[in-house]
Amino acid sequence: MMFYLPALLLVSAPIANVAHAQQGADPYVPTQANCTPDVQVRAAEKGLSQAEQDWRRLRLESVIESLSSYLTRTNLTGFNVTQYLSKLNATNAPVVGLAISGGGTQSGVGGLGLWQAFDARYPPAVKAGTGGLTQCLSYLTGLSGGGFLTVSTLASNNFTSIEQLRKAINFTEDYLVGPTGNETEYYDELFENAGAKAEANYSVSVVDVFGQQFGQYLPREWRYRSYSDITSKNHSFSLGTGPMPIVSLAEVIPGQSPEIGGIMYPGNNATNAFNLTSYEITPFEFGSWLGGRIQAFMPTKWLGTSMNRGVPQANDSCVTGFDKFTFVQGSTANAFNFWFIDAWYNIPLFAKRSLQTFGLHRRQSSSGGIVIPADQADSPLVQLVNGTAENFEQTFNDSLWATYPNPFQGYNAAMTDVTELLLVDGSETGETIPLRPLIVPERELDFIIAYDASSDAEYSWVNGTNFINTAISASEGGIPFPRVPSSRTMVNLNLTRFPTFFGCNSTSEPGSRSPLVLYLPNTAWTQYSNYSYMQSSFTDNQFDLVMNNSFNAATYGNGTIDKTWPACLACAVIKKSVIRAGLELPDVCNTCFKRHCWNGDDDDSVVAQATKDQTPILDPGLSFSEWNKTWYAK
Ligand SMILES: *[C@@H]1O[C@H](CO)[C@@H](O)[C@H](O)[C@H]1NC(C)=O
Ligand SMILES: *[C@@H]1O[C@H](CO)[C@@H](O)[C@H](O)[C@H]1NC(C)=O
Ligand SMILES: *[C@@H]1O[C@H](CO)[C@@H](O)[C@H](O)[C@H]1NC(C)=O
Ligand SMILES: *[C@@H]1O[C@H](CO)[C@@H](O)[C@H](O)[C@H]1NC(C)=O
Ligand SMILES: *[C@@H]1O[C@H](CO)[C@@H](O)[C@H](O)[C@H]1NC(C)=O
Ligand SMILES: *[C@@H]1O[C@H](CO)[C@@H](O)[C@H](O)[C@H]1NC(C)=O
Ligand SMILES: *[C@@H]1O[C@H](CO)[C@@H](O)[C@H](O)[C@H]1NC(C)=O
Ligand SMILES: *[C@@H]1O[C@H](CO)[C@@H](O)[C@H](O)[C@H]1NC(C)=O
Ligand SMILES: *[C@@H]1O[C@H](CO)[C@@H](O)[C@H](O)[C@H]1NC(C)=O
Ligand SMILES: *[C@@H]1O[C@H](CO)[C@@H](O)[C@H](O)[C@H]1NC(C)=O
Ligand SMILES: *[C@@H]1O[C@H](CO)[C@@H](O)[C@H](O)[C@H]1NC(C)=O
Ligand SMILES: *[C@@H]1O[C@H](CO)[C@@H](O)[C@H](O)[C@H]1NC(C)=O
Repeated sequence: MMFYLPALLLVSAPIANVAHAQQGADPYVPTQANCTPDVQVRAAEKGLSQAEQDWRRLRLESVIESLSSYLTRTNLTGFNVTQYLSKLNATNAPVVGLAISGGGTQSGVGGLGLWQAFDARYPPAVKAGTGGLTQCLSYLTGLSGGGFLTVSTLASNNFTSIEQLRKAINFTEDYLVGPTGNETEYYDELFENAGAKAEANYSVSVVDVFGQQFGQYLPREWRYRSYSDITSKNHSFSLGTGPMPIVSLAEVIPGQSPEIGGIMYPGNNATNAFNLTSYEITPFEFGSWLGGRIQAFMPTKWLGTSMNRGVPQANDSCVTGFDKFTFVQGSTANAFNFWFIDAWYNIPLFAKRSLQTFGLHRRQSSSGGIVIPADQADSPLVQLVNGTAENFEQTFNDSLWATYPNPFQGYNAAMTDVTELLLVDGSETGETIPLRPLIVPERELDFIIAYDASSDAEYSWVNGTNFINTAISASEGGIPFPRVPSSRTMVNLNLTRFPTFFGCNSTSEPGSRSPLVLYLPNTAWTQYSNYSYMQSSFTDNQFDLVMNNSFNAATYGNGTIDKTWPACLACAVIKKSVIRAGLELPDVCNTCFKRHCWNGDDDDSVVAQATKDQTPILDPGLSFSEWNKTWYAK
């Protein structure tokens, strides 16, 4: 996610009284516990954890039930649904994932709109023929805005419908200001919580403060709960009635990561993306599959425990409650390094075009310290980090990173004596759509919906760059992934304007290991959905408008442009499992794939400026200024 710096109004000096916080008494503080035998690191090469395998069977049983009603709704003429369902079981049923990109609240709220557009509990979605796909999702991944909002909000709200969600969460409250509107009181509390954690001898950073802001997107009773609490009995996840929520993160490595002005960043380039560790957090595990410096997992519940060579350093000092929901939310959206490098040195590192810059302040960097440019001292983001540093008597640099005791310390050569992991926004590796957890071969995804609201193009639209970057890193790592064309082709051929399937050919081969991918771009259908990704509150009207645009994106204009679209989506869900079962797809699938798959054509001509500036597909005469004045601001 990203802020336009001047729009923020934080308290000028968020100095909290941490003296009264008592260890253990504060609900934000992790808890010491005796270790149990499951507190250990396991190698990624062992495949899916037993917990995930067991959960998958439960989930796929539920998916098979959901498929029955979903498929009958989608009018798959000529397809014998009964026969297909009779061939499915909990090991061969379709495995479907939805990835929600970074992009602050623009992607985060847009992602909620997709959830609703595919939800069997939402009557218009049922009517449109898309309702029921949500109930067939086994994985829901997010990073940054897709992580702190879409994934975390849905997961903590028991994967409920958006109608119910809006009763639990007040999206009109501004997370920068707090529920009562008294910022002093709000930030005092956030700093006190972080202070209590510091007093209990955990490293803290600005992420402990910033992350708690996103607690506003959780039900009140979940604000101090942990990500691993999703595994508790009676939660939709553990009952198998909801998908597995996964959040992605990147890291910086002192002494290895490149720096600008002393500020580290992961430093992706055209050849090293796969070498940058992509961490994931599931309700069961934290770690990384392939690529990067570690291929191992730690139980999420026991994060915070000091480990060495894969086991606890002391048997009586294991830790639970470190994986606070808000800390995970803050971690996946922790891009202070990028914001500062952009604002101070005019170097935009995001694969993002619309960064606001604040003049050039190039200066000599010393390898160690970070020098805050004098004219940046009043920036609210600088003050938040500065306040953290001053409060906890640490350097500005120390205060920038989501700091995790390294569960992998001593586990391999690359982790020798690495006591802490310094985590940052998952999009900092150039892959803002969290596809990496979904293309892990072990998870055997059949179909992935990749929602891209990354703002990598001008006017905060998208041009495919982040999607292409995943294809590149997948190819570096030898991971099966569809062929994708250049950014120019993506834009010129409208592949960034209309939802388009990739991998149609490769997934037609029996035994294909590639998933079918639907690239679902954030575009203007009925509304200008390119509002600022730092918008920190929504009126009911604004929220409705965003939901409506997502609904039209997901339904291809609700049947106005292509009536067979719902069938096409269903075809994509079942395609690989139909082939596995030795059955044939009906003609309607082949016809609609012909229309909606990228056909392999390229158009690498320079993109015309007019193509970059969109008006709503279903209301092309509606200009942005008119819409903004008469619709959005209402
Ligand atoms: C289902 O599809 C058939 C042919 O593909 C079409 O004639 C019929 O109108 C469709 N029904 C609905 C409810 O869309
Ligand atoms: C569909 O398949 C079922 C089970 O294989 C079979 O009993 C039924 O006759 C088939 N229906 C049609 C219309 O072919
Ligand atoms: C599921 O069906 C496949 C194909 O019919 C079969 O090989 C497999 O053993 C079945 N698995 C279970 C758990 O029944
Ligand atoms: C939601 O929050 C806004 C802004 O704080 C407030 O005006 C409104 O009354 C709240 N709505 C509900 C239903 O509590
Ligand atoms: C805001 O909260 C602070 C600290 O609790 C309090 O001193 C102050 O009076 C409050 N301000 C308003 C306007 O209520
Ligand atoms: C969560 O949702 C499931 C249905 O998916 C329901 O059975 C369960 O009771 C709900 N749990 C809570 C805590 O509301
Ligand atoms: C990419 O970065 C790596 C270090 O992570 C470096 O070794 C390599 O030379 C860089 N490649 C290019 C093309 O800049
Ligand atoms: C990526 O890592 C591999 C294995 O450690 C190494 O051989 C390769 O040179 C690295 N590539 C870059 C660009 O850093
Ligand atoms: C915080 O900001 C003040 C005022 O700009 C500055 O003097 C101080 O050195 C900063 N503290 C840190 C830890 O960067
Ligand atoms: C797409 O966006 C990227 C990153 O912002 C930019 O470098 C690239 O030039 C853009 N591509 C086109 C075709 O405009
Ligand atoms: C792309 O979509 C726009 C808007 O619907 C349309 O005007 C244009 O002709 C399309 N271009 C191509 C190459 O299909
Ligand atoms: C898929 O196969 C068809 C038929 O061979 C070919 O025309 C098309 O270009 C292929 N698509 C891609 C993306 O390679």
